[in-house]
Amino acid sequence: MKNVVWWPAIKNNDPIAVEKYGGFDYFEYSRQTWKYWCKQNDVLFVEFTEPVEPDLYRYRVNWQKALFVFDELERRNIKYDQIALIDSTAMIKWNAPNFFELTDRKFVAWRDLDNMRWTHDSITGYKEFFGDFKLDTTKYINSGFMIFNELHRDFFDNLKKMYIDNKNDFIRLQDRDVRKGNDQTPINYLLQINEIDMKLDLPITYNLTHMGRKELFSHNWQLKTDPTPFFIKYGNVWRFTGMPKDQRSDLMKQTWELLKHHYDKTFIINKVQNKNKDKSTTSSKFKEDIYRTFREQKYKNMTLLELGCHQGNTTRIYAECFGKVIAVERDESNLMKAKEMCKDVNNVEFICADVYDRDFKLPKADAVHIDAGHTYEQVIYDIDRCIETMGNPIIIMDDYGHEGKTVRNAINDKMTEGKLQLFTHIGEDRGYVASNDKVFIGREGLICNV
Ligand SMILES: C[S@@+](CC[C@H](N)C(=O)[O-])C[C@H]1O[C@@H](n2cnc3c(N)ncnc32)[C@H](O)[C@@H]1O
Repeated sequence: MKNVVWWPAIKNNDPIAVEKYGGFDYFEYSRQTWKYWCKQNDVLFVEFTEPVEPDLYRYRVNWQKALFVFDELERRNIKYDQIALIDSTAMIKWNAPNFFELTDRKFVAWRDLDNMRWTHDSITGYKEFFGDFKLDTTKYINSGFMIFNELHRDFFDNLKKMYIDNKNDFIRLQDRDVRKGNDQTPINYLLQINEIDMKLDLPITYNLTHMGRKELFSHNWQLKTDPTPFFIKYGNVWRFTGMPKDQRSDLMKQTWELLKHHYDKTFIINKVQNKNKDKSTTSSKFKEDIYRTFREQKYKNMTLLELGCHQGNTTRIYAECFGKVIAVERDESNLMKAKEMCKDVNNVEFICADVYDRDFKLPKADAVHIDAGHTYEQVIYDIDRCIETMGNPIIIMDDYGHEGKTVRNAINDKMTEGKLQLFTHIGEDRGYVASNDKVFIGREGLICNV
């Protein structure tokens, strides 16, 4: 029995609908992200692309997705644990945490606070139908992303019966009298009338709606080194709602084009090991930041030196960016693994050596990743000799986020001395828990002297 992502994406070929939505190209961008994420998280991705009721006027897709979810899973003989119903207007970030683990097996949804006027009018408009039930507006949810399980089957059966018995009334309300939504407000009434125990406190990052209204398409312009839009940086599930519908496909396409490599298993960052599995290497975020910063053509003419390459996981990313990489490691078994990791590229030179040995001659490079010894003295020594030997190289430091008088203090002291000029912080932030359960007290790493 697996968790299921139930993904409704039914094309309504009525010319009015096609014009209203500017076509349905956006389905594909949503689909790719969910397919990838589901595979990564051992979740079943179930597409709902053929309507149960062909009459899409009487049975709008918004209704069918909820009315027939249990019937369809049963008909397709799918054994489910929890079900996440997610609109095809949504894309999920490639490395979003598995939200099924956060549900406490309750009915999970997110509050809809985007347009209070709309919500108020919708609630008032449907009030009469629900016998003047006084809806608690603080628990009004968005029906585009809901997580539930077998315990909620009765609720969905009731919803289906209510709709089928009263569909003409609902059509009149949604098209003529209220004109504020289809399924969402009736679902809210029924949830509260049935006293369904809802969990509404999952982070909003899992249901970022109306992103334009929240300025989430912008980026921190003061941070000149990172133009990544806020929604990509901080969001987990991006809902392309609250915008002119005919712009949706275009915006989702742009997002896909920008990020599609992350959803590709053969993309190099997806093939190497990260800090969540091996405490000695850098995080996936660190590697992404390296890749984003150094993938410009000019770095192809430069050499990077990595002191302490461990098993070659970050080395392999450097090999993608720099013309040449020199990787030094003292431990032979690590070095063998590093060579294996980089066997598909021919621009990495490996050196087996103790970098603090008297006979070790520091190779020259344009950029250096200092990551061998981790005592305060060793880090100071490494920074000083790199600057002396190479002039003013780009210096990349890992482990700045760790507590203790080690790397962090050494870097801070060198900055105070004026030898290191911060270009940008990289990697995971304060609060990140590595695979050895140590918690970062600041950003994982930094790039200096660019
Ligand atoms: C934190 S890991 C480096 C992680 C690697 N840079 C990465 O991003 O995946 C430190 C590595 O430095 C190596 N090391 C420690 N002291 C060293 C020394 N004196 N000379 C060479 N390598 C050393 C260790 O064996 C270990 O593999």
